[in-house]
Amino acid sequence: MSNESAGLCTANTVAAERHSSEVGHSRRRVGVVLTRTARQARARSNRVLVTGGAGFIGSHFVRQLLAADDSEVTVLDAFTYAGHRENLGDLLSCPRLRLVEGNILDGPLVERLVATHTAVVHLAAESHVDRSFFEAGNFVTTNVLGTQILLDAAMRCGIGKFVHVSTDEVYGPLLSGAATEEYPLRPTVPYAASKAASDLIAMSYFHTYEVPVCITRSSNNFGPRQHPEKIIPLFVTRLLKDEPIALHGDGGHVRNWLHVQDNCAGLELVLRRGEPGQIYNIGGGTDLTNKELTGRILAELETGWDRVRFAQDRRSNDRRYAMDWSKIADLGYWPRRSLDDALAETIDWYRDNPDRWAPEQRNPAAPIAAVNLETQAGE
Ligand SMILES: NC(=O)c1ccc[n+]([C@@H]2O[C@H](COP(=O)([O-])OP(=O)(O)OC[C@H]3O[C@@H](n4cnc5c(N)ncnc54)[C@H](O)[C@@H]3O)[C@@H](O)[C@H]2O)c1
Repeated sequence: MSNESAGLCTANTVAAERHSSEVGHSRRRVGVVLTRTARQARARSNRVLVTGGAGFIGSHFVRQLLAADDSEVTVLDAFTYAGHRENLGDLLSCPRLRLVEGNILDGPLVERLVATHTAVVHLAAESHVDRSFFEAGNFVTTNVLGTQILLDAAMRCGIGKFVHVSTDEVYGPLLSGAATEEYPLRPTVPYAASKAASDLIAMSYFHTYEVPVCITRSSNNFGPRQHPEKIIPLFVTRLLKDEPIALHGDGGHVRNWLHVQDNCAGLELVLRRGEPGQIYNIGGGTDLTNKELTGRILAELETGWDRVRFAQDRRSNDRRYAMDWSKIADLGYWPRRSLDDALAETIDWYRDNPDRWAPEQRNPAAPIAAVNLETQAGE
């Protein structure tokens, strides 16, 4: 049993289902029937619907929920290039986990699922900045429309809590200081703009329909099982293959690095104790320029700067992100894992699991990732 699986339920089956949209129901009728079902389900148990639970952060979050208490968890995931059953690994045998292959854009499916859960934690998204330069429409559709469809179902079914997972990138660049939750939204790339739009839609459902929405905005996550299009796994996997890596511009862009388990701890706190209508920044302990980050990775892999080239800067590459996360600290949040502490462990995971990331880099269904490997982007 892996460290990660210690303490998890050990039983036999997972309900894995594939869904397509059902036509013919009037929305009103579906809503009436499901509201009754929802009340019955809620009376029985604590059931959390996690969208995007087969992705990087989602799979860590599901693992944490199942280890912590007797919650029942349903993962709704479309299994895009970013979602993988293997991310849930040993959890797939847990009887408290149900896996539904489906799309958050599928209104009837979403409503049926939301109706039988006490809470929604919404992570499903198009999440890669570089792809958003080429596929902005997908980002608007999934991130904005998909969020609105979930909120609509949450409103009709009277959900107990809706945690919408967002990003520090909605604040745009800060040359000094740190953004509190009241800081203006100034996204500069289509990904961040779609997340900012979804945040505004989410909060509008709190004000208009009293849907108990909380928003989290976290900084850059890192840890095992992140898709190799993102900067840390991109650099690590290329270096492991003896390939060169490239930094954008002068490498002076500053990011805050948050271990994925710290983010998940923050998400769970907000799920349990967050106040509806509130936004919570979730930050980590390590601010680094991309050049400093590269230095740490090179040192861990005991290789030198001769492997690095400096490439033309990316479009709209925000110079610095920084957040004030004292508000969630008041709920009891504190990041436990520094980059120095956890980087080696993350690198070890990529070294030990080439079967998990090498196919991603060859995946013909991911042309943008292929471009990435040439341009060495990675956020
Ligand atoms: N990774 C980070 O550093 C970071 C930082 C801040 C916020 N976030 C946010 O956290 C969330 C999760 O990020 P991640 O890095 O785990 O992303 P990811 O790309 O690894 O996973 C996204 C998951 O969503 C699923 N998905 C995509 N479109 C879907 C759809 N239409 N219907 C159902 N499922 C769909 C994918 O299959 C995948 O499993 C996102 O909302 C992202 O914006 C990520």
